[in-house]
Amino acid sequence: MFYELAMSTWGPEEAEAIARTFASDRTTMGEAVAGFERAFAAYHGRRHAVMVNSGSSANLIAVASFFYRRRDPLKRGDEVLVPAISWATTYHPLQQYGLRLRILDVELDTLNMDVSRLEEALTPRTRAIMAVSILGNPAALDVLRAFADRHGLYFIEDNCESMDAELNGRKAGAFGDVSTFSLFFSHHISTGEGGVALTDDEETFHLLRSLRAHGWTRDLPADSPIFERRQDDFFEAYRFIVPGYNVRPMEFQGAVGAIQLKKLPGFTAQRRRNLALFRSLFAADGRFIIQRENGKSSSFAFTIVLHPEAQLDRGKILAALKSADIGYRIITGGCILRHDVMRHYDYETVGEMKNAYLAHDSGFFVGNAPVDLTPQIHRLREVLDRAGR
Ligand SMILES: Cc1ncc(COP(=O)(O)O)c(C=O)c1O
Repeated sequence: MFYELAMSTWGPEEAEAIARTFASDRTTMGEAVAGFERAFAAYHGRRHAVMVNSGSSANLIAVASFFYRRRDPLKRGDEVLVPAISWATTYHPLQQYGLRLRILDVELDTLNMDVSRLEEALTPRTRAIMAVSILGNPAALDVLRAFADRHGLYFIEDNCESMDAELNGRKAGAFGDVSTFSLFFSHHISTGEGGVALTDDEETFHLLRSLRAHGWTRDLPADSPIFERRQDDFFEAYRFIVPGYNVRPMEFQGAVGAIQLKKLPGFTAQRRRNLALFRSLFAADGRFIIQRENGKSSSFAFTIVLHPEAQLDRGKILAALKSADIGYRIITGGCILRHDVMRHYDYETVGEMKNAYLAHDSGFFVGNAPVDLTPQIHRLREVLDRAGR
């Protein structure tokens, strides 16, 4: 394809790391995963990282961890504030743990949660915020963090799409009580499948580790704050303390992650060069609404929402992209309210829901990648010029 939605970021170093790991006979998670976790936490200025097998699993154990805290655990029926646009597995763990969603509209330009609605969204049952930074563009994480602190809410940050983005000199993923990342193929760095949860809190860190591996104590040190080890080694070897999962990564993924992480600053710089070109070609064109950067985007992709007043036909535009061999897709997972799965949810919307529907019905994205996309972005411009008449 002339202009792909996503490209592999692996080179010979990753292939060698995989071969080395398998040759060592170590397939289940071990030192390479632990090494990657240390490096990933340090990169984000956080104390702890827990690597898992996907970003969805990171969200799952992140949400679960708040239910097993000693003090003030979340309970079924508590409310959580979420934006209307994200990926499905931002929301599913919230439903699975019996939380009631209060869904806020997004801003049409950033595509992130409209934080002017926060006061209106708050009820006496609100206990948490699930913040999402869409496609590399930081949400108003500073505003959300301050709001959460002011009202004693837990703050979970789904940063699966915005690794290496920055806001006020801090990395996205450094704001949440727990912050999650995806290492899926198309993301900023990839371990094939994979994910990470970051936290600074000791108890949460131990809960995340136990939840990752069957809910047992095997991965926890003897002085863990979440259980007291007894003398009986026979029993202690298979001791279960929380209803956990098996969402462990494989050892080769840790080895690949460490190599990819070293490449990340270079990847982000190239993505941002592509973004600068995209913006220079599209920012002044009123027909197409593109993402307004909040802080420093790590530019996962280039979004376009057709301005309602321009009265363009998305079907016609997508057909033109297809014949020009340009990949496109819905923005993230679109507006969650448009999906059948909502019949299984306990939720309410907060105020008018307009922008998320518009982005769902009249938007799309094309890819960005850590390679020079100058010819591709110029072709996109030409195609949209013709189709947008
Ligand atoms: C915002 C968001 N959350 C969670 C996920 C899930 O990540 P994974 O595909 O690694 O399970 C994604 C995936 O793209 C995502 O975009």
